[in-house]
Amino acid sequence: MKPLIESTNATLEYMDHGRPVFALHSATLTINQGEFLGILGPSGSGKSSLLYVLSGLKQTTSGLVTYGGQPYSKLNDAQRSHLRLKDFGFVFQQPYLLGYLTALENVAVAERGSLDEAIELLGKLGLSAKLHRLPHELSGGERQRVCVARALIGSPFVLFADEPTASLDHKNGLAVVNLLNQHRSSGALVMVTHDPSMLHEADRIIQIEDGKLAL
Ligand SMILES: Nc1ncnc2c1ncn2[C@@H]1O[C@H](COP(=O)(O)OP(=O)(O)O)[C@@H](O)[C@H]1O
Ligand SMILES: [Mg+2]
Repeated sequence: MKPLIESTNATLEYMDHGRPVFALHSATLTINQGEFLGILGPSGSGKSSLLYVLSGLKQTTSGLVTYGGQPYSKLNDAQRSHLRLKDFGFVFQQPYLLGYLTALENVAVAERGSLDEAIELLGKLGLSAKLHRLPHELSGGERQRVCVARALIGSPFVLFADEPTASLDHKNGLAVVNLLNQHRSSGALVMVTHDPSMLHEADRIIQIEDGKLAL
């Protein structure tokens, strides 16, 4: 197996009223090329922090994270944004959409992929009838599915999904995970969740608690 993303003692420390808080503590982990890695942990355990660090969205306060052997810390801002734009697809925990654009426009605004692909993805997510709705005309679960389509467009090499099923019912949640898994390219799918029933298709599951990985 070929390592794609490697973290060594990755730590993310915040100061809270002068006291250190570890959102992530000495996380050492390898994500191999081609795998669906599930990361399971309760609320506040550091799941989002881990995903931000693994994708280079946040810099660690100590430790090392590499993508394809290259440390994120050695990349400049332009190189990091290029990576996010070209290689990575993200489903954030909060469904961030542009309020003045329709569902379809929000998906197609990504710099990769086509309008046809956006329509097809939204269809697979059960949103064919809502392509031209504005975000405030959609339910929370529908907005989350628009964000899933936006992450998938252009088939990014690595998909990061932060509780992508949190505002969906069980059936729609499983359908979203299935779609993410189907669209997994030869890169990787890294998904964090507090719901073990969403990780049936994962190749490997690791647990996080209090910012620490239990491998
Ligand atoms: N910007 C921040 N400043 C201070 N503490 C933070 C910050 N971001 C996260 N934390 C703390 O780090 C811990 C892990 O947060 P997070 O990664 O969001 O957990 P999860 O995604 O598992 O709910 C929590 O205790 C949270 O309060
Ligand atoms: Mg979170």
